[in-house]
Amino acid sequence: MSDHVGMDSVRIRPLTPDDLPGAERASAVTFLEADRLSRRWDEPEPEPPDAAASRRWIDTIGYLLSVDPGGCWVAEDSGTIVGFAISQNRGRVWYLATYGVLPGQQGKGIGRRLMDAALAHADGRPGLFSATTHPAATRRYRLAGFTLHPQMRMVGRVDRSTLPAISGLRQGRPEDLEWMDQLDVRLRGAGHGPDHLHMLEGLRLVVSDASGRRGYVYIDHDRDRPALLAAADIATAETLLWEALASTRDQTLVNCITTANHWAVDVGLAARLDLAQEGYLALRGMAEPTPYLASGHYL
Ligand SMILES: CC(C)(COP(=O)(O)OP(=O)(O)OC[C@H]1O[C@@H](n2cnc3c(N)ncnc32)[C@H](O)[C@@H]1OP(=O)(O)O)[C@@H](O)C(=O)NCCC(=O)NCCS
Repeated sequence: MSDHVGMDSVRIRPLTPDDLPGAERASAVTFLEADRLSRRWDEPEPEPPDAAASRRWIDTIGYLLSVDPGGCWVAEDSGTIVGFAISQNRGRVWYLATYGVLPGQQGKGIGRRLMDAALAHADGRPGLFSATTHPAATRRYRLAGFTLHPQMRMVGRVDRSTLPAISGLRQGRPEDLEWMDQLDVRLRGAGHGPDHLHMLEGLRLVVSDASGRRGYVYIDHDRDRPALLAAADIATAETLLWEALASTRDQTLVNCITTANHWAVDVGLAARLDLAQEGYLALRGMAEPTPYLASGHYL
């Protein structure tokens, strides 16, 4: 326990639905500052989330709270939310959807207390999450026993002359979720379960269901990017990523590419996207999922 002045007034407690607006504001301030600090010379000045992004955050975190409230924690100081750790158990796997402490309150041990609460809920399960490069974050994660796997991302506008002919895919349906969960179990130890239904509400699902060549990709049309991709084999993963890229119209982003997923780098390069580094996939008790591109929130 830290002996920093002021620590005693900070209480770690479960998140409630009433906290969501305050937690969203804490998240907006925390990640705007973190994005400013980590901004590279060729990137635009980070902007605070707009009303739609704030609504999405509240919707997503409210959904996670409704499914597994025991993994959702906040730090409160005199009625103000100053930190949050939103984690979930799905079967035998734990994931961390988001985690932050207000800039003025960082480095005082609040993050460690939040992480301890979230990890107690994990109860020793294997776990995964997508991590920033923030020095306090990476320090916290490694000390909590996670292995940090560097991630890449591909950004830019797809050169449409590079798009291949695509066949063997179709629109996904709720009936597909059962085999999709089984594929998830093979790749990352547990199915996404209810997260699939939640993603289906806002994202387009495209699947390959041929025997031995199963796979799926969620495409976020609002943000012009693939959101989560899993496949039984690399050729299917490549086809699904091409389909996602073909449906983008503007600047796109392929995120969470670990070194075991260079097939995605090859597709991105072929589409004339640019390659950059982007944080880590933090893993405990599991190998890098592949062929797989994790979702930032649902992993
Ligand atoms: C990551 C985060 C939640 C940790 O919360 P926190 O309250 O700062 O964490 P703690 O104070 O408990 O622990 C941070 C550790 O890093 C150290 N640290 C803090 N700030 C640091 C910095 N700028 N550089 C290097 N080390 C730092 C602290 O000394 C502490 O280590 P120690 O316990 O061994 O002394 C918080 O820093 C944060 O919100 N960062 C920005 C957003 C972000 O990147 N979130 C993670 C998303 S995956």
